Amino acid sequence: MSELKIRRRTFLKLGGGSIAATAASALVPTVASAANPVDTSKTKLPYPKKAVGQVGRMTVNAPVTFTYPDAASPCTALKLGSRVPGGVGPDGDIVAYSTMCTHMGCPVVYEPTTKVFKCPCHFSMFDAEKAGQMIVGQATENLPRVRLQYDEKSGTVSAVGVEGLIYGRQANVL
Ligand code: FES
Repeated sequence: MSELKIRRRTFLKLGGGSIAATAASALVPTVASAANPVDTSKTKLPYPKKAVGQVGRMTVNAPVTFTYPDAASPCTALKLGSRVPGGVGPDGDIVAYSTMCTHMGCPVVYEPTTKVFKCPCHFSMFDAEKAGQMIVGQATENLPRVRLQYDEKSGTVSAVGVEGLIYGRQANVL
C-alpha cells in the first residue's frame, strides 16, 4: 500500500508532466489525422450543367426530383406559381433545393399547401419561397439551393451550381 503513495514532487521528477502531456496530445487529433484523406478544399472542379426539366411540363406545386451535382445528392425542383427571389423561368417561379436536411441528412418532404419542406426526423422546416430558409427545428442552416438556368429557346431548366453545403460533405463537387 505504501508504494502507491507518490508525492506530487516525486511524480513530476519521474516525468509525470511529460506523461500527462503525451496523454493530452493523444486525445487531440493532429492536423494530418483529422484531415479528410481527400483534400476537397482546393477542388477546381466546376459544377456540371444538368437538365432538370422542361418548363412546359412542370406543374405548379408538383415536385420534380433529380440528383445534383452527382448521383448521391437528391434534389427537388418546384414551380411555385408566383415569382420568388432566385426563381427562374418565364414566371420567375422555378426553384430547386437539395433534399437532405442540413441537420442530420434525413430526406425532407415538400408540402404543397404550405410550400415548406419538412423533415420527418426532428421536424425542421424550410421555406421553398424564401431560398430554402430554415424556419424552425434542429437545423441551423438553410437548405442548399440549386442554382438554375433557364434556356428560353428550348424551355429547358438546368442545374448549374449549388449555394450552400450539401449535408455530410466538405465540398459539393469532390
Ligand atoms: S435530420 Fe432533419 S431535423 Fe434532424
